[in-house]
Amino acid sequence: MATSGLEQLCSAKEVVVSTGSGGVGKTTVAASVAATAAAQLDAKVLVLTVDPAKRLASALGVQEFGNVETQVERAAFEQAGVDPAGELWVAMLDTKQSWDDLVRQHAPDAATRDAILANPLYQNITGRFVQSHDYVAMERLYEIHASGRYDLVVVDTPPTRNAVDFLDAPDRMADFFSSPLLRWLITPYRSRLVNLASKPFYTVADRILGTQFLEDIAEFFILFQTMYDGFVERARAVTTLLGGPQTTFLVVSTLEVAPAREAEFFLDLLAGRRYHVGALVLNRVLPEFLLDRSATAVARRLTHDAADLSEVFRSPLGVGDDEPLESVLGQVGQSYLDYQVVARREAEQRAELSSTPDLCLTVPALEGDIHSLGGLLDLGGRLWT
Ligand SMILES: Nc1ncnc2c1ncn2[C@@H]1O[C@H](COP(=O)(O)OP(=O)(O)O)[C@@H](O)[C@H]1O
Ligand SMILES: [Mg+2]
Repeated sequence: MATSGLEQLCSAKEVVVSTGSGGVGKTTVAASVAATAAAQLDAKVLVLTVDPAKRLASALGVQEFGNVETQVERAAFEQAGVDPAGELWVAMLDTKQSWDDLVRQHAPDAATRDAILANPLYQNITGRFVQSHDYVAMERLYEIHASGRYDLVVVDTPPTRNAVDFLDAPDRMADFFSSPLLRWLITPYRSRLVNLASKPFYTVADRILGTQFLEDIAEFFILFQTMYDGFVERARAVTTLLGGPQTTFLVVSTLEVAPAREAEFFLDLLAGRRYHVGALVLNRVLPEFLLDRSATAVARRLTHDAADLSEVFRSPLGVGDDEPLESVLGQVGQSYLDYQVVARREAEQRAELSSTPDLCLTVPALEGDIHSLGGLLDLGGRLWT
């Protein structure tokens, strides 16, 4: 295991991507790492969040949702007792707005651009495109990084079913433009020559959906195809950025069975693509002292001798004769032993997982939700050194 910590990683890299399965703490880790980097390094840091909880957004002092990049005020750091060396900026991913920007950028001319943006299906379809969220997340990352406005961009990833979906999103988008489905949707309207085989389908579809609807769909995709080159080129650039020397991945996981399995799969996949994995971040890990042998003996005694011990402790604890001290002591001992079983399983999982990346960082479950800058800095500080 290498000695380099998160500090070195954040100093050396320009893009840090926080990945992992849903609910493991990707968003929290991304925000914590960015906040801590801004506090510690003389750098302009942006965290690009995808599904920020309202509480997290307000913790960062960002009320406005959308693609606007907003600076977290110095005063917020000072309130948390920190004098930041750098700047922290936050942006949230607005899928609709990002699509509009993309269309503006890639449309071949103003007329096509306006036709796409005005197409009645455009809004609906972009919102529902399979994984369109993943695509725009990666696209936005590329755009922000290319602008050179920040020294470090920490990216949260969308809550996809599979952690790998967003990685493939740029390629999938490029594939989509040349897909048979798209050709099929467009052909009859483009040529206005419905062949015999598909005629019955269109007759029925016309009757059910209405000619206007089908024409809107066809028009939309025909217009969309004009942006093919731009999209494909972009998709390649995004993939290059993800695999480049300036980018590193954090794989976030808890030590529960399902997320740990997905993390293992993801670590292998990233390694297979030669992407740089900076660290495995194990979140909500139980403290190591639970594995202490002498503590086990104490917990066992507490459980077995609860009756005797309750006699001894009743008076120093100021607990009356009719209060259930015996059951409380017994339960405390038993709970400790139960936690120990989980901690042992966690230690095994951890040993298996941490053999892959250079750096394995752990964070305990902190009290309550992390919904203040102070909370983020606390968590980030535990990862930092
Ligand atoms: N170490 C931790 N201690 C306490 N709460 C945490 C910790 N990590 C995450 N949480 C909380 O768990 C919830 C889910 O975390 P989140 O970062 O949104 O997960 P994800 O983005 O992976 O879906 C949030 O409410 C967050 O505040
Ligand atoms: Mg999230």
